[in-house]
Amino acid sequence: MSVFARAKSIERLVAEAASRPHSLKRALGPLDLAMLGVGAIIGVGIFVLTGQAAAEYAGPAIIFSFLLAGVASAFAALCYSEMATMLPIAGSVYSYAYATMGEPVAWLVGWDLILQYSLAPAMVSVGWSGYVVSLLGDLGLRFSARLASPPLAYDSAHHVWRLTGAVVNLPAALIVLAATILLVVGIRESATANTIVVVVKVAVVIAFILAGAFFVHVVNWRPFIPPNGGSFGQFGWSGVLRGASVVFLAYVGFDAVTTAAQESKNPQRDLPVGVIASLAVCALLYVLVAVVLTGLVPYARLNVPDPIAVGINATGLAWLRPLIKIGAIAGLSTVVLVTLLAQTRIFWVMAGDGLLPQAMAKVHRRFRTPYVTTIGTGAGVMLLGALFPIDVIAELMSMGTLLAFAVVCAIVLMMRFTAPATPRPFRAPWVPFTPVAGMLTCFYLMSGLPGETWVRFVVWLAAGVVVYATYGRSHSVLADSRNVSVRGDAR
Ligand code: ALA
Repeated sequence: MSVFARAKSIERLVAEAASRPHSLKRALGPLDLAMLGVGAIIGVGIFVLTGQAAAEYAGPAIIFSFLLAGVASAFAALCYSEMATMLPIAGSVYSYAYATMGEPVAWLVGWDLILQYSLAPAMVSVGWSGYVVSLLGDLGLRFSARLASPPLAYDSAHHVWRLTGAVVNLPAALIVLAATILLVVGIRESATANTIVVVVKVAVVIAFILAGAFFVHVVNWRPFIPPNGGSFGQFGWSGVLRGASVVFLAYVGFDAVTTAAQESKNPQRDLPVGVIASLAVCALLYVLVAVVLTGLVPYARLNVPDPIAVGINATGLAWLRPLIKIGAIAGLSTVVLVTLLAQTRIFWVMAGDGLLPQAMAKVHRRFRTPYVTTIGTGAGVMLLGALFPIDVIAELMSMGTLLAFAVVCAIVLMMRFTAPATPRPFRAPWVPFTPVAGMLTCFYLMSGLPGETWVRFVVWLAAGVVVYATYGRSHSVLADSRNVSVRGDAR
């Protein structure tokens, strides 16, 4: 039987999702959704990577890198919006693949999404830990490095993992624990906490832009595109492209909005608003931050873990420094919260389809949240953040995300041919250009990731095939219909 023949109809999937017992609570409006998007987007990318990418690859032209990565993300955002209104159920790309490509492909997509939504909160928890320790240091409180660093590091020169001498990254684990508790308690509570913190972080980013603008030295933008240093990606136009691959990660998160489809009051109207508005706002803020930061400090001095703080130092506005750090800490907290939320909703749907243990589909009677999944996912992410370094996690996360974005673009393209009449409250413009351009940019950015990341990625997908073959295939809700049809064939 072809994988397509196993796909369910879109109408049936939506009806089944609505009729599930103990369904999730529909509590989110358009502002909540846009805030969730901004909550998931602004994080490590802008607070840490901007400076490093400018110093190592693009110089002041990192502004172009942000624009390029923003355009690539916009193709995917338009495709996400179309699918989210066609199929307004939790699970995001996993659900879209389930409806259109059948169970085995959907499983693999869901397995890939683990890389995105479990590694994102782990990665950001490590960045959060760095900023918290730094702020405590500014306040004269020393936190032992052995308790705030990963015990494992990857030595890429010798291709081996090494012990760093640290014991555990405790602050990283603690922020994941806090987010997990909040997510168990309720979606409304989580969204409200997210909105408050997002206001703080956006205010801090705007404060940086406005205050910094008065101290920009135009000379720092010359040369705007530093000449290429002799190899691909080392400044010049290839450096702008390499910079875009790095800062792409800064935009990841708008897609998380679609995973909350079943908690949205009016998903078909509000999901595209949430996705597109959050991406647009963040793209504008990112480009402005890049303009100001590269104007404040010569780009070569930005290769530090806290480039925004370095920018503030250059203004001489010492009082703004702790505020910026508090904003960064706030910003990183919501990325942990929202990406963790996204992972739990995807596991919840996969468990409902029988591809993961049934206990993971349980919804708490009082809180109306998938508490078993949330606690299990939180524990796993805590371990990742407590033990692993940020760079390895970040590269694998980008890989998983780019594949997911490419899959959404492919599904939009396919569905325009296979289901042209299905209602689409939001239609992505310029099809087939938009999805094709989306796929090509994603593959291009994937090709820029290191060979070791590709090996880890392939091993992860192979492990997914084994898990499906040994568990998911025989436990899935579709397994019953398969058995019935086999029995029927025998007759
Ligand atoms: N966009 C998120 C961040 O930059 C993943 O932290």
